[in-house]
Amino acid sequence: MHRDVIIFDTTLRDGEQAPGNAMTPDSKLRLARQLDALGVDVIEAGFPAASQGDLRGVRDIAEAVRRPVIAALARCHERDIDLAAEALQPAQRKRIHVFIATSEIHLEHKLKIDREACLARARASVRRARGYAADVEFSAEDATRTDTDFLCRVVAAAIEEGATTINLPDTVGYTTPAEYAALFRTVRERVPGTRDIVLSAHCHDDLGLAVANSLAAIEAGAGQVECTINGIGERAGNAALEEIVMAGRVRPQVISFRCQVNPREIMRTSRMVSHEIGVFPQPNKAIVGRNAFAHEAGIHQHGVLQNGLTYEIIPPEMVGAGGSSIVLGKHSGRHALERRYRELGYELDSNALEALYTEFTALADKKRHILDEDLLTLLHDGFHRAPEVYHLAELRVSCGTEPATAEVRVAGPGFGERTATATGNGPIAAAFAAIGEAVGRSIEVLDLSVKAVTPGRDSLGRVILQVRIDGKSLTGHGASTDIVDAGARALVHALNKVDHADGLEAAALGSSYFWGV
Ligand code: KIV
Ligand code: ZN
Repeated sequence: MHRDVIIFDTTLRDGEQAPGNAMTPDSKLRLARQLDALGVDVIEAGFPAASQGDLRGVRDIAEAVRRPVIAALARCHERDIDLAAEALQPAQRKRIHVFIATSEIHLEHKLKIDREACLARARASVRRARGYAADVEFSAEDATRTDTDFLCRVVAAAIEEGATTINLPDTVGYTTPAEYAALFRTVRERVPGTRDIVLSAHCHDDLGLAVANSLAAIEAGAGQVECTINGIGERAGNAALEEIVMAGRVRPQVISFRCQVNPREIMRTSRMVSHEIGVFPQPNKAIVGRNAFAHEAGIHQHGVLQNGLTYEIIPPEMVGAGGSSIVLGKHSGRHALERRYRELGYELDSNALEALYTEFTALADKKRHILDEDLLTLLHDGFHRAPEVYHLAELRVSCGTEPATAEVRVAGPGFGERTATATGNGPIAAAFAAIGEAVGRSIEVLDLSVKAVTPGRDSLGRVILQVRIDGKSLTGHGASTDIVDAGARALVHALNKVDHADGLEAAALGSSYFWGV
């Protein structure tokens, strides 16, 4: 018998809580629309008490995305709950998700309260949330390291106060499939009220067991699973939505559940998430990794050519991975470009199309085949940037002798134009020093990674940068066929965010702010 399981997507909340994953409200809105197209039941849109940006992000989604339930997270604090309710006010279907840690280690060292105080806070918070919404989820953070008797008392109290979903998170990715399944059965048996509510699983991947644990919970009666696209999230990440959904599709005889997700939208959604945050799944990632449907060995290639099922348990088209071989090149016109962007999930207005077409033809002069990844990179490195304060008008670098020297010209509306020259122990260091000099800001590079976005010798390189500028921590990304130019663009991207950084910074520092209660 196949049960319906609610797919609760937390890409925009837990997924965002990892270094470098911070999303702007606009980015969240684009992703929420795509999650709607994917067919998830619940979108956890953010944590409104964390920052003004998050509050706005949740409100924009609540206004625009009408089919799924929109959830907002709140600690068991009155202000958090009030802000969650305010952000969700325009929603067609809203859920307030309150949580409090219940394990001894969290109570003693983080919250510094005893069990009775925790129980009282949980009760009062669920009650307050119910004053705003009929749909209230309660999470016992670190449930898998919580004393079972106490966990059952908290769950019973939350249900008495009106919680409609109870979540038992494996917050630190500690449990195993058999143990997690047993926890669901125990709570179901010991707390009579659980018969009338939905029990939910929420797993982190610290031991690489998040998906296995989520599937075990479903087998043990969980009616909801919480997961993220590409498995992004705090530390090692959350359970990957695409893996849970496809496990159910491919092995219905052993993992028996139904859900509303349309698998054909999986690849599009995965790519959108990667490009919005600039973080890509590892090549061998199940379902959505670059190599998930690639066959290298001759024997495998031969088998797949005879019959795909020899080495593929999922036909690539089933998850929307096929059909990406349309070749766009310098002879393609605006219509072809516009259509391909639409297929990738982006509607462009005529100004955006015109500007992108100019960049596209410039790239096509340097590169024979333009792939989907190139198009997404052009889009994200062009239009979805912060408002332009500076742009790099000129960059000249000489290297090969020590030290490298860079000359830059930086211009911008309101800023005017300045040139500067600096040296460094490599071309990127020299370019960064010259840009810092030109804009008169102190720049400290925290992390820099370079990625070839597309294969081949004429590949676009993408630089992803974490910097501290005048004390604010920011990310920037830039792409070019020249790595030094890509690095300089990434720095200018980060510089353009400085004035808008307060909200973004609060989100990027999520882990300490969120959990430091
Ligand atoms: O991992 C966790 O415990 C959480 C809760 C806030 C649900 O993300
Ligand atoms: Zn979590």
